[in-house]
Amino acid sequence: MCWKYLAALVIAAPARALIRFSCSQLVIDRLDPLVNPGVAPSPHLHQIIGGNSFNQTMDPAKDMPGESTCTTCQFTEDLSNYWTAVLFFRARNGTYKRVPIVPNIGFEGAEGGMTVYYMQNGLADFQQDSKVTAFKPGFRMIIGDPLTDTIEGARKFHQVTYTCLEDLGTRFPETKDFPKKPCPAGIMANIRFPTCWDGKNLDSADHMAHMSYPASGTFDSRGPCPGSHPVPVPQLMYETIWDTSQFNEPEDWPEDGSQPFVWSFGDTKGYGTHGDYLFGWKDDALQRTMDTPCYVNCPTLATQTIADQNKCKIEPTVKEDIDSWLTALPGQETMRLGR
Ligand SMILES: *[C@@H]1O[C@H](CO)[C@@H](O)[C@H](O)[C@H]1NC(C)=O
Ligand SMILES: *[C@@H]1O[C@H](CO)[C@@H](O)[C@H](O)[C@H]1NC(C)=O
Repeated sequence: MCWKYLAALVIAAPARALIRFSCSQLVIDRLDPLVNPGVAPSPHLHQIIGGNSFNQTMDPAKDMPGESTCTTCQFTEDLSNYWTAVLFFRARNGTYKRVPIVPNIGFEGAEGGMTVYYMQNGLADFQQDSKVTAFKPGFRMIIGDPLTDTIEGARKFHQVTYTCLEDLGTRFPETKDFPKKPCPAGIMANIRFPTCWDGKNLDSADHMAHMSYPASGTFDSRGPCPGSHPVPVPQLMYETIWDTSQFNEPEDWPEDGSQPFVWSFGDTKGYGTHGDYLFGWKDDALQRTMDTPCYVNCPTLATQTIADQNKCKIEPTVKEDIDSWLTALPGQETMRLGR
């Protein structure tokens, strides 16, 4: 083997880890333990993945993810919970139908759920050589705001976007609002969290102020963290693929030319998309993983099969019909009641 080729291999080997994994759906429920702790039903519906100790309280003092006995995620040491709103189709007659979630390429067989990433540098960077500090027990955060209904408001949340899927491999372009035309393979909602932590607070009143974007540039351009939030943490990213394909007939779309999809909190533009995170990795599993060279396929982690992750499920706390053609979005008798 030519030494140049060997040298190239050595240079290309990652310094640290980027992990990408599948988590199946745990439950779809009207709970929101970060924004409305202890409230059931919460104002709008969410789809939730991760550890099965998830409930309406998730008391930060109790390390509740640690009480989970299973997780819907491929990596069994990850008992975190991750959640987003739920997408509906609004028919011309004004009724709503929940849009199914399908898995990414490579995760066939996963029932609903999301693809989750933890990265030290941008996704396309195979080296991943920035050093990050893993989140701590009790850590939680939110990105995005369901009350945002302008593009200016949506732009405050960097890299929170949609991809109109021509096929399951489509990744560009990304938009801040819902695609305006039918997407043959569905709509991918991309949620990326800020990557600079204040180093002190596990949470904050708005669940965002303890986190910040880089002081200049972006995460992908390796911008430095600001002095107020000096600690680089992994970039957490969710991809959810909403299978809108059964709703793509032009005669089913609104006659005024608008698009027919609406978030469970009544948002028809898409600017209010948001994601919630509640850290729950066992012991030092996330730090250990982040510090071990690997790109996507990481042997450092204990894994379960997709069939096994599908078996981890909980019953919804709030019993209500979410799957018929509904005359109103659950909890939203009038539009935009907020969270
Ligand atoms: C949520 O789970 C915790 C821990 O198991 C439990 O103490 C708490 O009572 C539960 N909350 C509700 C509302 O069931
Ligand atoms: C409303 O439209 C949907 C989609 O075409 C249809 O399946 C449903 O039966 C309609 N509901 C009523 C009450 O007409």
